Amino acid sequence: MRLLRRQLEREERAAGGAVHEAERPYQRAAKRPPLRGNWKLVIDAFLDGYHIRHLHRDSIYRFFVDALSEAQPAGDHIRAATARRTLPGARDVRLEDVDVRQLATPSYVVFPNTVLILHPDYTSVLTMTPEAPDPTRFSHMMLIPEAPRSEAEEVHWAKSFTLIDEGVFLREDLTVVEAMQRGIGAGANETLLFGELEQAALWFHESLARAIART
Ligand SMILES: [Fe+2]
Repeated sequence: MRLLRRQLEREERAAGGAVHEAERPYQRAAKRPPLRGNWKLVIDAFLDGYHIRHLHRDSIYRFFVDALSEAQPAGDHIRAATARRTLPGARDVRLEDVDVRQLATPSYVVFPNTVLILHPDYTSVLTMTPEAPDPTRFSHMMLIPEAPRSEAEEVHWAKSFTLIDEGVFLREDLTVVEAMQRGIGAGANETLLFGELEQAALWFHESLARAIART
């Protein structure tokens, strides 16, 4: 956990330049109908690492260690890192000598409704815009280190985008969000119980409560 935290802090320092200066927008999903789920459920979904083994079993779980992630609040924002399978074997490496995105995947909630995920070779920028309590406009933009210089590179990035956008976010995460919304809408439960591995989602909801109290 300490190693993850150090990586997180180091990656955060590096990301200031990497995200804002070197990377540029490249892919954005075509306009699609709003998601049938509350925008906060989507943020909750990106604030826990333990669902990867189950929900993403056939897609990205092969890259990650089961339920090994670390998160910290940063004001109302939240920063996190999720261990990749390369991390346990890198216990003795000097952080200066490695590309930390190969060892852990940093992610950030930029309060209130933006999520950054720093994949090994590109960054996903997600925004969740509520149109009403239920419908949410989900936007995904991919940032890459430089514009593609050939058709082959364009095909590579387009394929990468589709894999994560449709294969993971839409088909897996957002499908579950819609199912959760249907469950909440059924009215069978009066409360939602968050587990110990979902602490970061509680920070998010506490920040929301403070923001609402200020208005
Ligand atoms: Fe997920």
